[in-house]
Order: sequence, then structure tokens, then C-alpha cells
Amino acid sequence: MAITTCVFDAYGTLFDVTAAARLAAEEPAFAALKATWPQVARDWRQKQLNYSWLRAVTGAHTGFWQVTQDGLDWALEANGLAGDAALRKRLLDLYWELKAFPEVPAMLKALKDGGLSTAILSNGSPDMLHGAVSSAGIGDVLDDVLSVESVGVFKPARVVYDLVGQRFGCAPGEVLFVSSNGWDAAAGAGYGFVTAWVNRVGEPADRLPWKPDRVLKNLTGIPAEAGL
Ligand code: LAC
Repeated sequence: MAITTCVFDAYGTLFDVTAAARLAAEEPAFAALKATWPQVARDWRQKQLNYSWLRAVTGAHTGFWQVTQDGLDWALEANGLAGDAALRKRLLDLYWELKAFPEVPAMLKALKDGGLSTAILSNGSPDMLHGAVSSAGIGDVLDDVLSVESVGVFKPARVVYDLVGQRFGCAPGEVLFVSSNGWDAAAGAGYGFVTAWVNRVGEPADRLPWKPDRVLKNLTGIPAEAGL
């Protein structure tokens, strides 16, 4: 089945989520972050995701902005930075203007020039995603930005992946689903998407019942994976 539609996870896949802590650590006001920012970034991301899964399995859904703040509060406390209100605010502000990875604009343009549909499918709330898409300047090479908010549960619930077929009228096997999250790429493969896991930092594969179809180092090979 030929690929007609390329769908991307947002945070960590198109947008560099570690950038907020890295950039804040370069600012003189937040020198306390200089030594610890990689650990803060890791803890923040891991807790943000943990809270999204815990809320999904317990039915206690909330917006991604809430779990992003909750994850940050845990990470700041774990790294001895709780109580630094200015740092907390700066990190959260930076999350709204994350940079896209350098290859993203040309890769999306190649997909559009090749006649494929393109979209984001993300846990992010519509306003967070709007902020990131605008600051990265990639709105004109995306056909849509799909948020889990319309179904009220986080990935990898199958109703989230259903949004793609509902929007584009395509079968799962016509979709190339791209995620930097091993668990998201694996669950997408289990759903029936053709999947590419973008494993920039050489993480071990998640031990789940499904495997992504492809493992890539970055996004430059995506148009070729889509058959262009
Ligand atoms: C997202 C998170 C999971 O964008 O990266 O959905």
C-alpha cells in the first residue's frame, strides 16, 4: 500500500524538548542550572510522560500543559531547584517557543512537494502546538495539527491514532507515522501504521509487543521512507 499521509509526533520529534533547559542554563540569571540542566531536562520529560500515562489509565485526563507543569515541578524539586519561581517561569515560557530540529522545514516541504498529506498528532494541547508551530514557522507545510484534546485521553490510546483516518480518510497502512518516542512508534506499529522511530541518541528499544518498521537517526530520510 502506498503512503499517502505522513503524521508526526510533536515534542522530541519535530521540536527539541531539551532546548528549554539548555537555553535557560546559558542565561546568567539561571547559573544554578548549568551543571544540572541535562538531568533536569530528562526528569522533566520522563515525569511529563509518566503523568500522561497515569492519567490515561486512571481516566483522570487533564491538558498536556498541566502534566508539563507537574513534571517540571517534580524535576526542579528532585534537582534541588524547587522554589526558584523565576526559573520555573522561564522554563515554561521557553516550552512555548521550542525550536524545530534543523532538518524539519525542508523535510516537510519535500513531502508536500511530493503530493503527500502532512500532520502533527500530539498529546499537546491546541494552544501549545500552535505556539510551537508558529515559532518554528512550519504552519504552511502542515495540512493539520491534531491534538488528543478532541478525544480526552493521551497516547498511546488507540482512539488517538483513530484521529488520523478520521481526518484524512486513509487506511492505517497508508500512513507513515513518525515519532522519537520508542513507545509511541511501537504502539503506532501495533495500530497498523507504517512507523519510523527517530532515535537520535541511540536509546535501547522499548520492550513492547510491537516493533517500529524503521529506526532512523534523524528526519532527513523521511521522504524516502514515504516512497518519494
Ligand atoms: C507528543 C509527545 C508524546 O507530542 O511527544 O505527543
